[in-house]
Amino acid sequence: MRRIGWTKNASTALIAMALGAGIGSAAAEPLGLPPVPIPSDNPQTPEKIALGDKLFHDQRFSIDGTVSCATCHDGAKAFTDSPLKTSQGHNKLTGTRNAPTVLNAAYFTSMFWDGRSSSLEDQSQFPMVNPVEMGLTDHAPVLKIVREDPAYVEGFKKAFGKSGKDVSLEEVKKAIAAFERTVISGDSPFDRWYFGGDANAMSAQAKRGFDVFIGQGRCVSCHVVEQTQALFTDNKFHNIGVGINRIQSDIPKLAGEFLKAKSAGADVDKAVLADPKTSDLGRFAVTNAFDEIGGFKTSTLRNIALTAPYMHDGSLKTLKDVVKHYNEGGKSPGDPFPVNPYLSGGIRPLDLTDRQIDDLVSFLEALTSPSIAAAQKK
Ligand code: HEC
Ligand code: HEC
Repeated sequence: MRRIGWTKNASTALIAMALGAGIGSAAAEPLGLPPVPIPSDNPQTPEKIALGDKLFHDQRFSIDGTVSCATCHDGAKAFTDSPLKTSQGHNKLTGTRNAPTVLNAAYFTSMFWDGRSSSLEDQSQFPMVNPVEMGLTDHAPVLKIVREDPAYVEGFKKAFGKSGKDVSLEEVKKAIAAFERTVISGDSPFDRWYFGGDANAMSAQAKRGFDVFIGQGRCVSCHVVEQTQALFTDNKFHNIGVGINRIQSDIPKLAGEFLKAKSAGADVDKAVLADPKTSDLGRFAVTNAFDEIGGFKTSTLRNIALTAPYMHDGSLKTLKDVVKHYNEGGKSPGDPFPVNPYLSGGIRPLDLTDRQIDDLVSFLEALTSPSIAAAQKK
């Protein structure tokens, strides 16, 4: 599948081409999205999905009985905890990072802002035992509940044909992931216009904003749009100057201390959510590669208007703040520090006019799926 690269000039020709080719989406998926990748060792079944839904919403898997996955990934908030800056776990403890949406996470090739987990299955075990999230010491209480609660006994029998001691964390992880793979959303005004060929689906302002997105704004080089689908992410890691600019003089010391702690056995999941500066080291904390300092996974932009504030640290309040940060070349207007030395080569001043900035924000607002917006109003 060909990627639409950014061009210097607004690329209306490209749009005409895509629409002219009569491009649609795969039958069963919402407009704008490819089929959901399903791992061969965890096929989707209605029983497993229903079980995962129940597990995702179960507060008993937290130390004080008040926090479930859905506390921070709330279906009524586009599967985030907006407007919190960073998430709140048990006993009102706060972590260092903004909760990304679970919507369309099924398409990510790695999980977390720094990609430290490789799949939805693997990811689901961490929050339960993170000290600032669900706060359990280990997974034993989870296993006790799913092996003894009659509703779960029935559920695991139906979904996996297992009961008692045969039910392990593997089945719990698989069921949660199967549920998450149903949390998919496309069919936004942008999708209906660009992939569906409905000229009236998106406003003239948002259309101008799309020209900026794929042209002078260079957004599409990381937030990818393809000919038949748009995930708005390249699933890669980039340093765009958030957080890390502020602590750049500390980097040698911080990085050194982190590597030392890690080789002495420190747990990366716990370390990055406990300390804001360690969090800002980004992808480096996973790969130990100095050129990945301050690198974070490119976010999907679908439903972005519903999930403020923005970025891994929740430091940018509005979409306009985000666009201004990019416009300045990787620092926010008024920031007292220069950009950090590890900044991505793809980030540089954009010279956008106020009107182009507003147009771009209008385009980002056209990425909201009607079903997700409706769930929010309930
Ligand atoms: C206290 C709030 C909180 C709870 C509870 C929580 N999460 Fe999260 N979730 C977060 C935060 C914050 C991140 C980002 C952390 C990071 O990147 O280091 C995240 C990341 C994720 C991601 C990765 C998304 C991406 O874009 O990479 C998935 C998937 C996810 N959580 C699912 C779950 C599941 C499943 C549970 C329950 C087992 C859960 N979460 C419980 C706050 C929470
Ligand atoms: C070099 C790659 C790259 C380019 C170019 C880029 N982005 Fe991003 N974008 C990212 C990364 C990486 C993040 C997450 C960074 C972080 O949290 O520190 C991000 C985050 C965002 C977010 C916040 C997402 C959230 O859930 O909090 C928005 C909105 C956004 N980008 C919009 C844009 C727009 C608009 C443009 C063009 C003006 C653009 N991006 C250009 C890589 C890029």
